Amino acid sequence: MSTLIKNGTIVTATDQYPGDVLVEGEKITVIGSSLTMPADKIIDAKGKFVLPGGIDVHTHMDMPFGGTTSADDFESGTIAAAFGGTTTIVDFAIQYKGQTLHHAWETWMKKAEGKAAIDYGFHMIITELTDQVEIEMDALVKQGVTSFKLFMAYPGVFMLDDGSIFKAMRRTGKNGGTICMHAENGGVIDVLVKEALANRQTAPKYHALTRPARAEGEATHRAIALAEIADVPVYIVHLSAAEALEMVTEARDRGLPAFAETCPQYLFLSYDNYEEPGFEGSKYVMSPPLRQKSTQDRLWRGLAFNDLQAIATDHCPFCLKEKHLGDGDFSKIPNGAPGVETRMSLVYDGGVRTGKITMNRFVELTSTSPAKIFGMFPKKGTVAPGSDADIVIFDPEKKTTLSAKTHHMKVDYNPYEGREVTGVTEIVLSRGKVIIEGGKFTGKAGSGSFLKRSPRFM
Ligand code: URP
Ligand code: ZN
Ligand code: ZN
Repeated sequence: MSTLIKNGTIVTATDQYPGDVLVEGEKITVIGSSLTMPADKIIDAKGKFVLPGGIDVHTHMDMPFGGTTSADDFESGTIAAAFGGTTTIVDFAIQYKGQTLHHAWETWMKKAEGKAAIDYGFHMIITELTDQVEIEMDALVKQGVTSFKLFMAYPGVFMLDDGSIFKAMRRTGKNGGTICMHAENGGVIDVLVKEALANRQTAPKYHALTRPARAEGEATHRAIALAEIADVPVYIVHLSAAEALEMVTEARDRGLPAFAETCPQYLFLSYDNYEEPGFEGSKYVMSPPLRQKSTQDRLWRGLAFNDLQAIATDHCPFCLKEKHLGDGDFSKIPNGAPGVETRMSLVYDGGVRTGKITMNRFVELTSTSPAKIFGMFPKKGTVAPGSDADIVIFDPEKKTTLSAKTHHMKVDYNPYEGREVTGVTEIVLSRGKVIIEGGKFTGKAGSGSFLKRSPRFM
């Protein structure tokens, strides 16, 4: 199967130029102007951007959490991702206490196999570190699971103590992997949560009020300090607070391999959403929580000046029925919100069109830079001969209104309900196959492949 994409504007992290792209089999084979070679399918991309497929390195499909399971499995979640212009996800496998990492990896592979419609990789969440687990970490890196997520929050569930964090970091420093960190001070938060509940402060907004920005700043500082001693790259996931961003900026200024992502919810939503009437605030219960609106400008500046290197989604949707598990006790509201489908349009509309970031930076933040940090580049993350033909034809002028009525995520609300955005994914190719066209999914569940990612020492 060959496809010739003609007359578009090709955008990578560094270039923007008119050109044609020939796709043969699963790969991009030729880029040039006025290409005339025969092809099975011709796509006219006049007036459209031709982008590398979006890469979302932070999703939670089919994830057990807070007494329930996230609403999207690997089929519905990856199809929704594709509608939004994302062609690769990196999800999180979870090692529960007493389990091996291998068991966790196999469990998550089974969740994805035969279901994922786009390519997928895994980070491994470690919740218990033993000598055996350390040995397994090396094996996993060789098998292409080259990053480990550790938690400084959720005591008794996910949280590791500093000693275990340090040991896991040191091992990862040696085996070529990367540490992803959930940086919030779980001990402090636990005290504040218990106090709030004792004072009958039970509404959703207390989720935010018991997770101060400084608790994120403190943990981010500690994560970076521990990583510096352990000599390992550290990637702060879902960074939301200016206090945390300052720590990453300071570390990067000192030349440390410290990286961070933020997510659209922290760029477009704010603490004010928790003040919505009734139980509406539960839609935004996630960790870290939404911050004051004034933080948004700080995050955009961080994105523009490379203090933040990626925009991922932390897609972890729960239906409203599930959110109601926290009726009368905000600490029982499952943490997480949907976003895998809306990332590209939101960031293009709110970032590129407003002049906060350039078009090249948009591509870098949503595709190229995460591909590089997590060992997928140049197979993924750019439009170049030899790269996988994961391509998005993006209409920069088309408008759409975000809504639960029209989105493809299997969740009954949209945090951006009614928001009009300009800039829409029109056609998506996943390894050479057209999987989104004419507003329809034309791919196949199960056609996504496990992505063996490279370690740092390649
Ligand atoms: O609230 C969130 N972020 N839920 C997903 C789990 C995590 O910590 O990423
Ligand atoms: Zn987290
Ligand atoms: Zn997450």
